[in-house]
Amino acid sequence: MRIAVAGGTGVVGRHVVEVARARGHDVVVLSRAHGVDLVAGTGPDGPLAPVLDGVDAVVDVASTPTVSAKASRAFFGAVTGHLLAAEHAAGVAHHVALSIVGVDRAPHAYYAGKVLQEQLVVDGGVPWTLLRATQFHEFAAQVHGQTRVGPLVVVPRMTSQPVAAREVGERLVDLAEEDPAGRVPDLGGPREEQVVDMVRAYAAATRARGRIVGLRVPGAYGRAMRDGTLVPGPGADHGVQTYDAWLRATYVG
Ligand SMILES: NC(=O)c1ccc[n+]([C@@H]2O[C@H](COP(=O)([O-])OP(=O)(O)OC[C@H]3O[C@@H](n4cnc5c(N)ncnc54)[C@H](OP(=O)(O)O)[C@@H]3O)[C@@H](O)[C@H]2O)c1
Repeated sequence: MRIAVAGGTGVVGRHVVEVARARGHDVVVLSRAHGVDLVAGTGPDGPLAPVLDGVDAVVDVASTPTVSAKASRAFFGAVTGHLLAAEHAAGVAHHVALSIVGVDRAPHAYYAGKVLQEQLVVDGGVPWTLLRATQFHEFAAQVHGQTRVGPLVVVPRMTSQPVAAREVGERLVDLAEEDPAGRVPDLGGPREEQVVDMVRAYAAATRARGRIVGLRVPGAYGRAMRDGTLVPGPGADHGVQTYDAWLRATYVG
């Protein structure tokens, strides 16, 4: 198959590309590093549609780091709109999108763009598959890097069930190989974790400095982070690699 991976240089995108190539697929990477700007809707030679010539399925794992709902909606609206229009023009028969468990039940700014992305995919007219996954194991490092206040690393109190990005990548390639399936079961990791413990374990494994303190975030999103809204419910699928195993494999060797 010929599979295009939007965001194929990112945390999960790299795995999607590796797994698809290892299974013998012809992979086209859509990212700015590869001359494709999905916000502008342009490819290396101008229009986006010719980049999708002969493509059987597009896997969309593009993202932008933002805590603004407006910026998130602008990004995911533009990327999804341009991808779907180019897929129509090029005759692509399958759009596979990755979203986040609980995204429509937790009022987080970034999630506003993900909810819009999901709606556009469902209404877009290209046969689709939508997978929601939990936070990746890499999430703890991202949180650690974001929230330093002087000597303190401030970590929101949050319950997660993190999953290996590799296993999400494998699932996305499975889905691209199959027929469009609509919304498929959520994918989470093997067990629940407290994100503050994950960040402490990350800091210990990498000898990162700073005193790590948990913060109860007020408001509806803070509650959703703590109360299990973001962990998968009954009927979900579960990856096998625990956060601890991933940490050891990644940082301890
Ligand atoms: N991170 C998590 O814990 C998590 C959990 C569940 C679901 N998800 C979802 O998984 C998806 C991928 O997340 P991620 O953390 O792997 O993302 P990421 O590491 O931030 O990667 C983002 C990707 O998007 C590409 N990109 C950004 N702006 C672009 C543009 N204007 N045009 C073309 N490509 C662009 C980047 O490539 P260039 O810089 O080369 O353009 C990169 O390949 C997102 O939809 C996210 O919501 C993430």
